[in-house]
Amino acid sequence: MNFYIMTLFPEMVSNGLAESITGRAINNNLISVNTVNIRDFAGNKYGHVDDYTYGGGAGMLMQAEPVYKAYHSIIENNNLTEKKPRVIYMTPQGTPFNQAMAEGLSKEEDIILLCGHYEGIDERVLEMIVTDNVSIGDFVLTGGELPAMMIVDAVSRLVPGVLGGEDSAVYESFYDGLLEYPQYTRPEIFMGKEVPAVLLSGHHKNIEKWRYEQSLLRTKERRPDLYEKYLKNHNLKK
Ligand code: ADE
Repeated sequence: MNFYIMTLFPEMVSNGLAESITGRAINNNLISVNTVNIRDFAGNKYGHVDDYTYGGGAGMLMQAEPVYKAYHSIIENNNLTEKKPRVIYMTPQGTPFNQAMAEGLSKEEDIILLCGHYEGIDERVLEMIVTDNVSIGDFVLTGGELPAMMIVDAVSRLVPGVLGGEDSAVYESFYDGLLEYPQYTRPEIFMGKEVPAVLLSGHHKNIEKWRYEQSLLRTKERRPDLYEKYLKNHNLKK
């Protein structure tokens, strides 16, 4: 799976994703992370890619042309003319990102992520190239780089082979809409606190039942919104 990231800060993205599990996935050729510096497409020798907004108002806006040219360089240099990959613009005005979106994106072969800066990007180029507007939450960051890295991370771990254990992407928070149950490792007693006895019993049915109950309980306490949805989807009563 190939990610193409349009940004003014390519090293921020490539250095961050070169670590840990995404770094290993890159080294194993399971994913590729290709950054394109929008500044390389500035139409002036100063490398300026921003300007004042028409109509006034605070801050600067990224201009349409460098973004448009950067996009076309990705399409042309990677033989993507036919495929027309999805172009995701990272913006607080987008659809809130979630696990279902990560799963949908993990089926794509190529994804382009567009990171804005300053006050945003000229609307005309967004209308021309963007297929999806995505937000990572109701707060405003200084740029789209961290959101883009989050998306690459969340999507990459769903690509077969990226996670070590085959099923570790299944039994986890948000699988089936519930939060994950609590987990424990050695020692059996830590500062007087014991591991729940059922987990030491070796009785797999009971362990599964306990985990399911804990998932329900935790979701009800911490994410009542998800809990209500789960009950509804499974025709369960409170
Ligand atoms: N850029 C700035 N803030 C953002 C957010 N919350 N989500 C996505 N992109 C952003």
